[in-house]
Amino acid sequence: MATNITFHPGSVSAEERSQLLKQKGITIWFTGLSASGKSTIACALEQHLLHLHKFTYRLDGDNIRFGLNKDLGFDEKSRNENIRRIGEVSKLFADSSCIALTAFISPYRADRAVARELHEKAGLAFIEVFVDAPLHVVEQRDPKGLYKKARAGEIKDFTGISAPYEAPENPEIHIKTDECDVTEAVKRITEYLSQKGFI
Ligand code: PPS
Repeated sequence: MATNITFHPGSVSAEERSQLLKQKGITIWFTGLSASGKSTIACALEQHLLHLHKFTYRLDGDNIRFGLNKDLGFDEKSRNENIRRIGEVSKLFADSSCIALTAFISPYRADRAVARELHEKAGLAFIEVFVDAPLHVVEQRDPKGLYKKARAGEIKDFTGISAPYEAPENPEIHIKTDECDVTEAVKRITEYLSQKGFI
């Protein structure tokens, strides 16, 4: 635990920075089961926003676990820490006026609430997108063969099979990926951002 530390504020406020850069920083937090479509939608949205010349960056569960979070597994405590770190990192991106897109299962409501609170306390918007697909659908998709392995007991603590997923109760955006394709999902999120004045 760090002691004897003092927060050092800069000379440019987050508001001034976004005025100068002509962009409001926000975090768009995708949550959902493995294979629900989080990464696919986040990738397509990132491409779309970059083509609108919006400074956008995507943080993705699988990718972050190759580096920053390579020390973490999938037990509850590790997932708590995974999401705590991503909450902090996405807040830094949003504070820099970036549109941060996070695509993590983030299965626990309390962890997502902490990430939201962190942003809101800093005056940064946090938009939760529930990427929703029923278990039988994601199990059928199973692009990485992980559900099959989890059913066979080869992977423990697998979300939806042997570990919980707590669905959002009040997400800003709810996308049912068995009813809505990627283009439509990107359109819905972009419309929301536009209505709220973020882009
Ligand atoms: S979490 O719950 O937010 O900490 O998970 P996350 O960092 O998003 O990582 C999820 C990806 O890791 C792979 N994987 C597993 N997922 C769930 N449970 C277990 N046990 C597990 N083991 C490996 C899987 O590829 C997830 O990727 P997505 O993109 O969600 O399918």
